Amino acid sequence: MTTQEMQAAFEQAYGHKAEKVFFSPGRVNLIGEHTDYNGGCVFPCALSFGAWLLIAKNEDNVLRFRSLNMPQVYEIAIDAIAPQPDRAWCNYSLGCIEIIARRHPEAKLESGYDLMYYGNVPAGAGLSSSAAMEVVTARAFTEEMAVSDRGGYPCGYTDEKAYRTELALIGQACEHEYAGVMCGIMDQFASAQGKKDHAIYLNCDTMEFEHVPVKLEGIKVVITNTHSPHHLDSGAYNDRVRQCKTAVEQISKVKPIKCLAELTPEDWKEVEGAITDPIAKKRARHVVGEVARTAAAVEALKKGEIAYFGELMTASHVSLRDDYEVTGKELDTLAEAAWQVEGVLGSRMTGGGFGGCTVSLVKDEAIEEFKAFVGKEYEEKTGLKADFYVAEIGDGVMRLA
Ligand code: GLA
Repeated sequence: MTTQEMQAAFEQAYGHKAEKVFFSPGRVNLIGEHTDYNGGCVFPCALSFGAWLLIAKNEDNVLRFRSLNMPQVYEIAIDAIAPQPDRAWCNYSLGCIEIIARRHPEAKLESGYDLMYYGNVPAGAGLSSSAAMEVVTARAFTEEMAVSDRGGYPCGYTDEKAYRTELALIGQACEHEYAGVMCGIMDQFASAQGKKDHAIYLNCDTMEFEHVPVKLEGIKVVITNTHSPHHLDSGAYNDRVRQCKTAVEQISKVKPIKCLAELTPEDWKEVEGAITDPIAKKRARHVVGEVARTAAAVEALKKGEIAYFGELMTASHVSLRDDYEVTGKELDTLAEAAWQVEGVLGSRMTGGGFGGCTVSLVKDEAIEEFKAFVGKEYEEKTGLKADFYVAEIGDGVMRLA
């Protein structure tokens, strides 16, 4: 769908034109999974698909929510903003608006707004459609509610990077409070800070980051969708968050630490005995290994050692399968089939897990064979059809009009 078509749909729905158009992308994570809420590093890239938001003021003191993807429409008075029941999709948007006002005392919603969303991130694919929606809302409404009269960016930011980080934090707070998922910062950060043809090496403890060029001559990043909806509900995800916390508490009896990512693989040998809970121990072992793999993978990419990068991706999947237990039959079938194809450098699940997508590095000449073989194996073993997309790495959140 083009932005002109979205504008026409807005006008048809509301009877007047949109005043502004914004876009924020979904993401794919190359490596560094379930490390973000453990103070570790991640290495995601923003994609060229994401969420669009068109807005215009209204004179009725209400927020009207429509989406070109969802049938439900909502109307909420601007003085009655609170989480809506039954997992209403407008919560991802309402939450951001309320959180902007809470985090920035100068931010005010001075009128009602008509909103129209459109998203083209495959639904339930674990490519962060919700983060894209949160960040696009944070971008639009920081501008509407808190444009600094001191110049610079909304909310008084003079530095673009700091402003974009704040957009990610608003989105994350919304996910915690309005969706009940105690997620880390990776998805919203990638959506806010993405850069075309670069991955983001982010330290989730300090929020320091670096854009690293993804130069893969003759190799593509291929995303494969299980079409098995990822069940990143609060349940299994929040369990992992708690299990990691248990590991930190038990390790701290022998070595005080704030988060698991502080431990190197050498430290691990000394402290693992202190974890009495066997599940917490497996979870922690994944995190310590994954943090080390992520650092090694970034170095490998910088040096052009793509084969090694691919091996680390594959090792990441194995650890997520065996120790973190977030893969499941569909993701394992895709990854294990991919590993058998000549010309695949590495393949792993990406995102929260339990369904969703894998990400693979595939040589150009092997792409057709990859699709054919992985697609066939997957259908035989699961009865489902996989979808393949060659990832285009795009920019972070932006205003388009
Ligand atoms: C989800 C969360 C992220 C991150 C990943 C796993 O996408 O939203 O914060 O924890 O899972 O790496």
